[in-house]
Amino acid sequence: MLLRDVGPGDVAAYVRMRCDPVMMAELGGPLPRRGIEDKVRRDAAEAAAGTSLIKMIIPDPAEPAVVAGSVALWSHDGTGTELSEIGWMVLPEFQGQGVGKRAVRAVLELARDEDRWGVVHAFPAVTNAPSNALCRSVGFRLAGEVETLFAGRTFRTSHWFIDPRTDLS
Ligand SMILES: CC(C)(COP(=O)(O)OP(=O)(O)OC[C@H]1O[C@@H](n2cnc3c(N)ncnc32)[C@H](O)[C@@H]1OP(=O)(O)O)[C@@H](O)C(=O)NCCC(=O)NCCS
Repeated sequence: MLLRDVGPGDVAAYVRMRCDPVMMAELGGPLPRRGIEDKVRRDAAEAAAGTSLIKMIIPDPAEPAVVAGSVALWSHDGTGTELSEIGWMVLPEFQGQGVGKRAVRAVLELARDEDRWGVVHAFPAVTNAPSNALCRSVGFRLAGEVETLFAGRTFRTSHWFIDPRTDLS
């Protein structure tokens, strides 16, 4: 598996991940197609600048055009304090094969090596069984349940956290 920065050519992969009702079932439903080019442009700029880690998952380095999903680690203002958050998506044909787990672990290893992200948080919906299993499996600890805002909608989410410098299992 290879991870590379998101780039301007990743619009089709973003459309598959974010505009699909099945992929977005645990994230409030599909996003409108029209905003995707802008989102890819913004993410590619953030990744190039190093502000966020936004990685596309390439399952087979011999076929670099085939994308399995993405993992993003970014920093934002939580409840008054800066918070590092990680999120992930794996396309249906690659799910259930350990791809998500390996990619999330690899991004957390990058975060550990950069040593600038501190504790990393994740907020999957409480009903998102694979994402909650992934968190547990990688070494996140469960803080509890919280209401989380995503794309203008509020969800009941599990609040997981991990310190990549000490907690990676
Ligand atoms: C969540 C998602 C990224 C998981 O990726 P994946 O590559 O299929 O997951 P993996 O194969 O690495 O499995 C990770 C863990 O989840 C478990 N798992 C996988 N699918 C599962 C399912 N349907 N139900 C319960 N557990 C599941 C695996 O057994 C593994 O746990 P283990 O290490 O204890 O065995 C993927 O299903 C996805 O993209 N879903 C749609 C989008 C989404 O919900 N994104 C996350 C928003 S928070």
